[in-house]
Amino acid sequence: MKHIMADLQKIKERGLYRELTYLDAAQGPRTVIEGKSVLLLSSNNYLGLCNDERLKKAAISAIENYGVGSGGSRLTTGSYKLHKELEERLAQFKQTEASLVFNTGYMANLGTIAALADRNWVVFCDRLNHASIIDGCRLSGAKLIVYKHCDMEDLLKKVKKYQGIPGLIVTDGVFSMDGDIAPLEDIVEIAERYQLITMVDDAHATGVLGPNGAGTADYFGLKDRIDIQMGTLSKALASEGGYVAGKQCLIDYLRHRAKSFIYSTALAPQTIAVSLKALEIVKEQPELRKVLLENAKWFQEQLILAGFKIRETKTPIIPIIIGEADAAVQFSRRLLEEGIYIPAIRPPTVPEGTSRLRVSLMATHTREDLSYSLEKIKEVGQKLDII
Ligand SMILES: Cc1ncc(COP(=O)(O)O)c(C=O)c1O
Repeated sequence: MKHIMADLQKIKERGLYRELTYLDAAQGPRTVIEGKSVLLLSSNNYLGLCNDERLKKAAISAIENYGVGSGGSRLTTGSYKLHKELEERLAQFKQTEASLVFNTGYMANLGTIAALADRNWVVFCDRLNHASIIDGCRLSGAKLIVYKHCDMEDLLKKVKKYQGIPGLIVTDGVFSMDGDIAPLEDIVEIAERYQLITMVDDAHATGVLGPNGAGTADYFGLKDRIDIQMGTLSKALASEGGYVAGKQCLIDYLRHRAKSFIYSTALAPQTIAVSLKALEIVKEQPELRKVLLENAKWFQEQLILAGFKIRETKTPIIPIIIGEADAAVQFSRRLLEEGIYIPAIRPPTVPEGTSRLRVSLMATHTREDLSYSLEKIKEVGQKLDII
């Protein structure tokens, strides 16, 4: 245990010690922390569906019909018709031949990449890709080649170097901590030219981007040219789980080879029912993502006017870059005292020297919520000499 204590001490000294904050109410524009009502500006509940009555009803009805546990892995006793229905609906949503649901987005990335690639492969990976992608690459045993963030020159240079080796280019569709969108058109062109497979992680784009809310392939009109579209059900869809959508042969293969799918108990029926209902809402209420993106655009404009150093994005993720970890934590703490909850994001989640407050908005934030938050962010930013 000595080495654990020593490591924890080092983490503390670097200002990177993490503690959990407990919410006492649903994820909504407002929640409750330690008995106090606060504005929540950091949830991935982008469409504001986590506390939606229709989703709650769907969960209750599934519990009444099927009980609360799935009782086994999908390949033993854990599959319900609901799982099949969700996979069919996801395939329709993504306009692919088929899809497969995993228990989390993390497991979808891990299982898919490790199933597909092996030590004879090369995987080209954006430097800011999510940890689950990196872990999937490592688990696969493939040669991992990291290219500079969204830098197509660097990608091309590296791809050329490994010509002739089976390979995969994998990227976040929307980068989780930066909110920017991957240059998918360029990535697809490079992949096609050098016969590489493409995989996009749409965790933060599902339900948010594209004319149908179906993610970055939908946004760029590239659905037929991306081989593997992975995503989560846990963010805009307000549920849990991950999915992979693509050709039928890919899905059949993953059912046989993706260990995180095979060796884990299936998601509970109520979780699947919630995902199904959320997909229906994404289809029927495109205005939710319109309002969300308008909120995000307006909020960014106001932050810039106030003098904050932000990375402008076309998504609801808005990073306010602070720099040092301690300063980001202090900013976050002071905001919480003022009733605004935006936790600090520090290394190793983001690169050293880029600690930040990662603002993420919901469609259900009102302009009053956002104006009030802006005032408080400005006030605290001025007191701490950030602006
Ligand atoms: C880009 C990205 N991929 C994958 C995941 C993992 O998804 P999940 O939370 O469903 O495991 C996340 C979420 O944290 C993410 O941000």
